[in-house]
Formats: sequence, structure tokens, C-alpha cells
Amino acid sequence: MAKIKFQTPTGMHDILPQDQVYFQKVYKTIEKAFDFYGFEKIDTPILENAELFSRSIGMNTDIVEKEMYILRTKEGKDALALRPEGTAPIMRAYLEHGLNTYPQPIKLWYHGPFFRHEKPQAGRYRQFWQYGFEVLGDKEAIVDAQTIVIMYNILCDLGINDSIVKINSIGDENCRGEYRKALVKFLRSKKNEFCKDCLRRTKTNPLRVLDCKDEKCKELMNEGPQIIDYLCEDCKTHLKSVLEYLEELKIPFTLDPFLVRGLDYYTRTVFEIEAPVTEEEGTGVLAGGGRYDILSKVLGKANIPSCGAAAGIERIVSAMKARKVEGVYASMPKVFISQIGPLAKKKGLLIFEELRKAGIKATESFSKDSLKAQLSRANKLNINIVIIIGQKEALRDMVIIRDMETGKQAEVNIKEMVKEVKKRLK
Ligand code: HAM
Repeated sequence: MAKIKFQTPTGMHDILPQDQVYFQKVYKTIEKAFDFYGFEKIDTPILENAELFSRSIGMNTDIVEKEMYILRTKEGKDALALRPEGTAPIMRAYLEHGLNTYPQPIKLWYHGPFFRHEKPQAGRYRQFWQYGFEVLGDKEAIVDAQTIVIMYNILCDLGINDSIVKINSIGDENCRGEYRKALVKFLRSKKNEFCKDCLRRTKTNPLRVLDCKDEKCKELMNEGPQIIDYLCEDCKTHLKSVLEYLEELKIPFTLDPFLVRGLDYYTRTVFEIEAPVTEEEGTGVLAGGGRYDILSKVLGKANIPSCGAAAGIERIVSAMKARKVEGVYASMPKVFISQIGPLAKKKGLLIFEELRKAGIKATESFSKDSLKAQLSRANKLNINIVIIIGQKEALRDMVIIRDMETGKQAEVNIKEMVKEVKKRLK
């Protein structure tokens, strides 16, 4: 059999304990924030019907054209996709469970793994973690502004105080048509200069040319028409209100006339939040989102005006580390159980459970037999109290309680042990 070196698949990574402390910090922070802002948690499956994404994100987007992992079971006819993002599944869940019949808006949050078969590079993975939130069933501009504020404030809570919001409006069904015409005219006038992908997209989905990653195409686009000049009155008023709210709250933002985002479901407001991450990653897009009033229509239902955002947790963790933000560490045990002899070992296990029931964090070294080795381990762990139980004590249901600071020892009955430990830990 050929020798295989098993390792994580390309673009995927393990999150080891030393990184879990930062992920925990993110989870604790968002849980508190979403509770305050009145969001409820939702989990959707990792797999969804692939068509949910091709319809909502758009057939001619990078995600759908190149990046989806699609699975077929041997017997199954349906193509299921590993979710590349969370908004379409949440809209699917909202429609499937009739959440429109409850008082609106419905405010939901989530976190979990997402999958995109992208070219791996610093800050870009094929399996990555996001947290996000969606406000479904509300068309007001204040929701767009609050979406940005919530995302911005969570980043501040995580110690990332130097982020900046890039914002644009990409209009709606009424005004985007005019812009599309002007854009196609411009793209055709420069057809020998844009890349092959852009030329193809001029025909299939011209707006996607705006998020082409090729530097030359980006430069060419700077001379192109700007969507903001084509917005209808309603879209203009909407954008103006969003910006006014942001100004009121002193959120640092810049208007980016070429920001369209890589997903087709957006209408009106789109935004991204950037911050310096690491030297290797440079400035990274930590979060992005926007309004998606027609997504539900694409899925075959009436319009549910909605807005939301998601953030990449790996990028946030890199930014936290670069700013020396502390993670969340487990509390240290205060009590150590030390045992000598087979009977004492059995009693030790029992004592350990008694302490757990009493809510006292304890630790042990059951697999070590020498008292010296056990006490030396307790010392290293900065333990306050060691409970010692030997054959003699075990036979009489007694334990020795040793104060590690003074070295003083006292014998107590096992029944009295929890009370005595609590008294000493006070
Ligand atoms: P997105 O911009 O595709 O939006 O992803 C949101 C964030 O996820 C990005 O800003 C980035 O930090 C992170 N991210 C995306 N792809 C990767 C990757 N390959 N590796 C590491 N991090 C990545 C959405 O997904 C929308 N669903 C956001 C939204 C919610 N819009 C409305 N509601």
C-alpha cells in the first residue's frame, strides 16, 4: 500500500487549543452583543440544495461558477452543496417555516463553518468560519445603518478599533437596468483591454466585472460609469439616510462607487469593513454585507426586504493577535487530588466527582503513583489545596487536606471534605 502522509486538505486548517482561546473570545463577545441587540440564534444545515445558492448568489458569480463544493450521493439525484455563505440558507429557513407570519422584523444570528474552493492564500481558506446576522422583513434605511453599526461595534469589542467602512448603493430593480446599459457600453468600448472573464461577463452579468480581482481591469474600471449617478430617487434617499445615521454615530466610512460585492442578491446598500490584519495579509476585509430585498423573490416568494452582514473569524483572530488582544482562557483549578494506592485511587475518583458537584474546579494526576511527583505537579499548577488520600485514610473514609502555601495538613472525614475545602478557599 502506498505511503500517505495524512494532513488537512489544501486550504483547510485545524483550530488547535492555542487558537481556540481567540475563537472563544469571538463567540463570547458576539453572544453578548446579539443578545443585547435582540437577535435570536439560528443554525441551518451545512449542506443545502445547490440550486439555492446558484439562484440566490447568481449563476455568473465566482462563488457559483468556481467555488462551490457539490456532493452527490450514489443514489441521490439531488446535488447538495457545502454552504458557501449563510444568507440564502437563512432566507430559505425563514420562508420554509413561515417566519413572515410573526411580528416583523425577524432578527437572527449564526456562526459556523463555510466552504469555498478558492485559491488558498493568506487570510483566504477553503473552509473558514463566519459569524453573521440578518434582519428579515424590514425595508427602512435605519436597519442598514444599524447593521453596519453592530458589525463595527463588535469589531471594537474585539479590540479592533481602527477599522473603516466602505459603502455604496447598487440601486434596485428600477434603476440598475440603466446603469447596466451604460456599463456594457463602456465595457464594449474597451473590449480589447479587459480580461477574458470580464468580456464573458459583459454578456452574462456585467456588474460582476466590478469585482474582478485583476489589477488591470480594476484600473480600467476607474474610468467607467459609477452606479451612484444612475440611482433612482428612492434609492438616493435611502442611501442618504443610511449615511446620515452613520455620521450621527461617528462611524468612519468612505463611499466606494465601485463596491458591488461578489453576490448577486444585493439591492441598495452594500458595505465592507476593512482593517489592517498582519504584515502578510495587509489590509483585510473583515466583514461585509448589505440589503437584499429581492432574494426571497428569486427563491419564488414575495419580496421580503432584508439586510445583514457576516464576518470572517480567521481574519478577525489574525487582527486580534496583531493587536495583542487576549483570548479567553479556562479558569485554573484550585484543588488537586493526590492518591497513593489502589483503594485510594478509587476513592480519589469519587472525591473528584464530589468536588465537581459542589462546583469546585479540581484536577488530578491519577496515572502518577508517587506522592512527590503529584505534589510537584500541584506546585507547578499553583494549586491552593491538595487533598491527599492514602491506603490508611481510604480505609477510614478520611482525607488529608494540605494547604500548599503554609504546608499545614489536617485530617477530615470525606463527608466534611467539601465544606472544609469551601471554607479554606474563601
Ligand atoms: P462575504 O463577503 O462573502 O459575505 O463573506 C463575509 C466575510 O467572510 C468576508 O468579509 C471575509 O472576512 C470572510 N470570508 C469570505 N470568504 C473567505 C475565505 N475564503 N477565507 C476566509 N474568510 C473568508 C457573505 O458571505 C454574505 N452572506 C454576508 C451577508 C450577510 N450579506 C447579507 N447578510
